[in-house]
Order: sequence, then C-alpha cells, then structure tokens
Amino acid sequence: MFDLIIRNANLADGRENIDIGIADGRILAVQPALAASTAEAIDAQGQLVTAPFVDAHFHMDSTLSYGLPRVNQSGTLLEGIALWGELKPLLTQDAIIERALAYCDWAVAKGLLAIRSHVDVCDPRLLAVEALLEVKRRVAPYLDLQLVAFPQDGVLRAPGALENLTRALDMGVDVVGGIPHFERTMADGAESVRILCELAAERGLRVDMHCDESDDPLSRHIETLAFHTRRLGLEGRVTGSHLTSMHSMDNYYVSKLIPLIREAGVAAIANPLINITLQGRHDTYPKRRGMTRVPELLAAGVAVAFGHDCVLDPWYPLGSGDMLEVAHMGLHVAQMTGQAAMRQCFAAVTDTPAAILGLDGYGIAPGCRADLVLLQAADPVEAIRLRATRLLVMRAGKVLARSPAASAQLELPGRPQQVDWRHAAR
Ligand code: FE2
Repeated sequence: MFDLIIRNANLADGRENIDIGIADGRILAVQPALAASTAEAIDAQGQLVTAPFVDAHFHMDSTLSYGLPRVNQSGTLLEGIALWGELKPLLTQDAIIERALAYCDWAVAKGLLAIRSHVDVCDPRLLAVEALLEVKRRVAPYLDLQLVAFPQDGVLRAPGALENLTRALDMGVDVVGGIPHFERTMADGAESVRILCELAAERGLRVDMHCDESDDPLSRHIETLAFHTRRLGLEGRVTGSHLTSMHSMDNYYVSKLIPLIREAGVAAIANPLINITLQGRHDTYPKRRGMTRVPELLAAGVAVAFGHDCVLDPWYPLGSGDMLEVAHMGLHVAQMTGQAAMRQCFAAVTDTPAAILGLDGYGIAPGCRADLVLLQAADPVEAIRLRATRLLVMRAGKVLARSPAASAQLELPGRPQQVDWRHAAR
C-alpha cells in the first residue's frame, strides 16, 4: 500500500521513532512501527524529519546581484535602495531569471521549498514581474514561489506606482505589498496602507507590507495596518514585515499596540540577518538591535515568522538560502534561548510561515504532500545549533537533493577518529 516508508524518524513536535508511509506523493500514515511492506524504506536513524523550510520574506528579483553595478559601501538600507535604483535600468529579464533559478537551486539543496518573494513594481516595464512570473512557472514542480507586488519607491511617492502595482496583480502576482514608512509623510504612509488594503479586499488577496522598517519609534503604520485589516474583514490574511520600529517604541504604546495586532489577526515577519545589520545605523553606543519584539508578539498569540529577506544583493553581502542560519540569528537577537523558545524559532522557519503563505497540504501528517527534509540532527534545537546538513530533500515523495553527512576525521592519539558535533541523541 506504500511506495516508500521512512523509518525511525524524530519529528519536530517531539515524537520519536516514527515511521512515515508514503504513496502517490502523499503521506498516508505517521505512526510507530508501520507494518512491514514491500515498499522501499529509508532509515532515518533517529534523526529529524521535518516538513520543508519556508521563507516568508525574500527579494528574488535582486538576489545574487551583489556587486552590480557596485557594492554597498555604507551597508545601509538607504544606500541599498539607491544602489537598486542604479541597477534597475541595467537589468535584463534573462539575467533576473538566471539568478533566481540559481538561487532556487541553492534553496532546494537547503530544503527550502516555499518562498514568498517581493517583486519591485516601480519599474514601468515590469521587467522583474515578468521574469519572476516565468521563474514561478518553471520552479513550480519543485518549489512554491508566491509573489508580492512591492512598490519599493513608495506607491504614492513614485509616479505611476499604483497603476504598475495593479497591472502586476492583473498579470498574476499573488499578494499586495507596500512600504508606508518610505512614503513622503506619515499621512501619506497611512493613506498608502488604506489604498492597498482596499485593493486587496476588492480582489480577495493577501497583504504583506514592509512596515515601519526604521528605527523611528514614531513610525506607527503597523497600527494603521491592523485597523484597516479589521475594518475590511481581512483578519488572517495580512502580514506586517520587518516592524523594526517596534524595537524602539515606547513600552506603554506597545502595550496597547500588540493586542491590536493580535485582535486583527495580523502576522509578523522579522528578518533577523537583515534587521541586525541594517538597523541601529544612526546610533553610536548603545547600538540598537532593531529586530521587532518577537517573544512579546509570540506571547500575545501573534504568528511570527523569520524571513531571509536578502541573499547577495544591494542590502546584504552574505547568505545561502539556509533558513536554519536565519533561525539561528533570530534566536540570538531575540535572546530566545529557552528550550520552548528555541523550538518556536524552528517553527518560525517552517510551520508558521507555511500558515502565513496559506500553503496547502503542508506538514508531516496523513493527507499532506510528501514534502520533507531529513536533517543530520536529533531535534529542532540541534538542527539550529548545527545549521544541520540536509541529508535528503523530498518533494511529493521524490528525492530532489542529497548531501553527504558532515563530519571530520581526527588525528589525535587516544581520541575518536571522527566527530560530527551531534550531542542531543547521546
Ligand atoms: Fe524586504
């Protein structure tokens, strides 16, 4: 009855020695000691089998463009935006497609099989939109790519941006984006949130805005986003990305704000690698971390995911598509070192972003698509600690990628000949 059984798996929820039975690309059974069958079997050897990593916040139109046409010397967000403005006229569709496909190869090898990418709609040619729609079609057999119409230069500030954004949605872009803190005034920012939420409500689309990505404690567009979410009945479909100004806000105001976010069912996405490097740039010392208030949002019941945001582009000179590296940084910046908190950081790059994207059939449960990753780690905490090797990556029951186990040969008299840094299982 099964095509394949994965035996002796540990699951992210803490269950151990579980067998996963797969047929026709779907998971049929998840339980200990599945009855012997003639099916092919893979022995997970007590290592963690997880649903794939999900990146809820990325910029695929700029990825792998680092150094084009020059590198970001200051490393700031604003020089990054200026640099992207220099690069935009030089972009070609083929080059965007090639870089995006190369990044998707990296992602698959890291077990990252679903990505929500913002795509800049401020270029009237909509070159990047056409390119990423083509990439979405090409990668569909192995990676879910969801696109957000993102007016990088401001939907009210940049001439024609609203029209271009609407055209992008007509072309098949999935989600409405925005950048209220980059509009000319606070009032324009609030107005942009209203216009974009109404557009999403009219079209039945989700919303994901870059919101308050600054260190300005008075940048409060998240409040407006929560307000319009409720007003328009968009609960559960709206996300505030970055929310870095919340780091610097007055505590009294935040004690009012977080319940409003929760009440509106607005999700939050922090981007730890980028927030820790781009925020606090106007500070001397002490220097702010700039990441939003992740533990406090989680404690209030707000869904919080961690995104990669950038890899090798005008804003970030590093990265490899490794969502465990993202979780590792998020855990450190938020000081989430308790056992339950570390597991929440793992969920922030798996289950939580899957729910934010609205992915169908995601998870290790009967009925889900057999998309899974075998990690060289016993549990989610060890996976984060080691940024564990993805031994096997599978989509609909078919292997997409394999990596050899990480280990080192030692030549130390009287000591073991080999180490692999595993600890939890012993
Ligand atoms: Fe972003």
